[in-house]
Amino acid sequence: MKNEDLIKHVKGESKFLDDLIIPGGTLHALIFDSVIAHGKIKKLNLEKAKSLKGIVDILTFRDIPGKNQIGNIIADESLLAENEVHYVGEPIAIIVADTLETAKRAKALIDIEFEELPVITDPREAYKSGSLITEPVTFSMGDVDDAWANCDLIFEDQVDIGGQEHLYLETQGALSQPVEGGGVKIISSTQGPTAVQRAASKVLNIPMHKIEVDVLRLGGGFGGKEDQATPWAVMSALAALKLNIPVKLILNRPDDLRMTGKRHPYSADFKIGLDSNGKIIAYEVVFYQNAGAVADLSTAVLERTLFHATNSYFIPNVKATGISCKTNLPPNTAFRGFGGPQGMFVIEAALYKAARKLGVPKYELQEKNLIHENDVFYYGQLAKNVNSVKCWNSAFEKYSIHKNIEEVKKFNEENILYKKGIALMPICFGISFTSSFLNQASALVHVYTDGSIGVSTAAVEMGQGVNQKIKIATAETFSVNISRIKIESTNTTRIANTSPTAASTGADLNGNAAILASKNILDRLKKVAAKELGFNDAGLIQIKNEIVFYKSEKTKLKWEELIWKAYFNRINLSSHAYYATPDIYFNRTKNQGHPFAYHVFGTAVIQSKIDCLRGTYEIEYVKAVHDLGKSIDYKVDLGQAEGGIVQGIGWLTVEELVQSRDGNLKSNSLSTYKIPDIYSAPQKIEVHFLENSENDYGPLKSKAIGEPPLMYGIGAYFSILDAMNAFNKNIDIKISAPVTPEKVLTTLYKSSKQLIPNES
Ligand code: MTE
Ligand code: HPA
Ligand code: MOS
Repeated sequence: MKNEDLIKHVKGESKFLDDLIIPGGTLHALIFDSVIAHGKIKKLNLEKAKSLKGIVDILTFRDIPGKNQIGNIIADESLLAENEVHYVGEPIAIIVADTLETAKRAKALIDIEFEELPVITDPREAYKSGSLITEPVTFSMGDVDDAWANCDLIFEDQVDIGGQEHLYLETQGALSQPVEGGGVKIISSTQGPTAVQRAASKVLNIPMHKIEVDVLRLGGGFGGKEDQATPWAVMSALAALKLNIPVKLILNRPDDLRMTGKRHPYSADFKIGLDSNGKIIAYEVVFYQNAGAVADLSTAVLERTLFHATNSYFIPNVKATGISCKTNLPPNTAFRGFGGPQGMFVIEAALYKAARKLGVPKYELQEKNLIHENDVFYYGQLAKNVNSVKCWNSAFEKYSIHKNIEEVKKFNEENILYKKGIALMPICFGISFTSSFLNQASALVHVYTDGSIGVSTAAVEMGQGVNQKIKIATAETFSVNISRIKIESTNTTRIANTSPTAASTGADLNGNAAILASKNILDRLKKVAAKELGFNDAGLIQIKNEIVFYKSEKTKLKWEELIWKAYFNRINLSSHAYYATPDIYFNRTKNQGHPFAYHVFGTAVIQSKIDCLRGTYEIEYVKAVHDLGKSIDYKVDLGQAEGGIVQGIGWLTVEELVQSRDGNLKSNSLSTYKIPDIYSAPQKIEVHFLENSENDYGPLKSKAIGEPPLMYGIGAYFSILDAMNAFNKNIDIKISAPVTPEKVLTTLYKSSKQLIPNES
């Protein structure tokens, strides 16, 4: 493997927050949080806890010099609870001690009394009682109300979708050090260094320039650290500045599981109308999003649900409404796909139901309705460079899907206790932050006098390989050996006003910025070379593999000498460059526009086998043709595709979040929250990248890869349902994800009559 980070990971040399050597005297912080989901704080007595030896301080909202406010999109989130708590795990106080052990003992000594208030955990219940984050939002095209009259078949149903725990290996945390002049340096495990800096500035009441946020790498983020790394970073900074000593705050796993938000659970109502040829004429859907107690990123997540409500299909009449419902759960947040997967799941459920009622295979309906070049996405964007049909056809050909379908049929005829199912899953995912202003990045490139190169950007490395991609993009721009390049930590003092590394745009935005900065230096170097070699036209100079060429002829001048000459002649060997995605806009009054630079397409085929006696299942294979543009690094991209697929399957199969009605997380450890392991991951994953696909918006013609493959996991859900229907074609399956083995079993045997498999 070429990815340097991976080698360091395997050797245990990569540094994460908890590996850093901490300054002498560093104190440790532990959060005191709410044990109830809703109520008033009647009494809070810290005296006994404070008097414990080794306790330095216990901070509450009263210790905040600025605003007790960290809401990113909507200002509705306190850093520390004041008089009321809204979810189990809501931070109330920060215990600062010489050791974590002391802090833990103090936590038990804090005396608190609540007056409990009613708890809502269900989004529909929240909606009924008017508990909303904001007003509902509707996107539409055509006229669904008129269109129903033209439909030959109309189906309606309800769909429920569970949340998902991020389970990044590295839990949330930060280390803050006071610096001279009343400033602070925060080393944070965050996807959004500037979000941390901005919130800290508000809370601490100091300007942003006094706050330096530095991120070396994350042990996984998956969206969970886009916004929710902020509180812990700000809390450690608050304590560090008040006490004038470094403070380290890292959540232990139980605290992280309990206190942080997850992928949003949704409930949805859909109505779909088709003509007798299976063309979708109209689609109406209402999404009830379970936002948790405060907004966090919920409104943006919900908007992406609406953008992806029609997945890879063209539908002439669509009306999609999103309602962000406020409940007494930890604020749910970004998670790979950012609401898109939930939107896509519902249309797939609608097609599944329609196909069942019509008695046709689902894939026939999917194929008939795929979006084509120059169709219009229902949010107004003209569909360009559409590869949906190409991926679909290529998958059918490459993976002999028709033959597989026949084989599954035959297997099911011959077997009673095992049944197989197969499903197709086309995807279409828009690339760009849906909040257009976030689509900007900058890079700072230094060429040192020995010819080595340092690159700073806003990109945060979290295992997705963005550093490797930026390294390759920079090396190719200069045409130097990749070993000359180092990607520096992400740092708000070097790179200001960073957008979070999210929306799969990390490599696109920051790679493009790094290329622009490199080109600036390269142009100067070409002039130096021309002068040095006595040529007039710098435009005919090229650097290839560290050698200077003139009119395609090799010269004697090499990289290291060229750099030295440039330095000697006082030529600037550094450049800062800025990149903003062109051509994107979105009108939020009309909910129409061109929000995405481009779309990523793909088609996967997923086959599963269920054990009808036990309800257990195996995903036999996932095979996908995925549109990647031109890959910058094949291994990194393949890793992203495979990881995304497994994470998507986990979400819809074995990962089940369970909350009690009083708002406590019951699935609060890895013994009760199951993620895919080596046994339950697909036995085979095969991903082919679509040939001859190029993308003008991506560095080196690449396309984003981070999130889209997760949505192939939706196919795993429907392949299991397909197998269940093979066991008994008459069972009516309620669409409720995840489809755990328990659910498979209880659904197969809903009534005693169904103990007898159909017609056998
Ligand atoms: N891959 C790994 N290994 N770890 C992660 O935390 N995050 C995902 C995806 N792949 C993640 C990952 C998410 S949610 C996003 S948005 C993208 O990576 C972000 O990185 P990119 O923009 O560089 O693709
Ligand atoms: N993805 C991730 N984060 C975001 C987005 C998005 O589309 N929009 C705003 N924040
Ligand atoms: Mo990814 S959910 O956009 O961090």
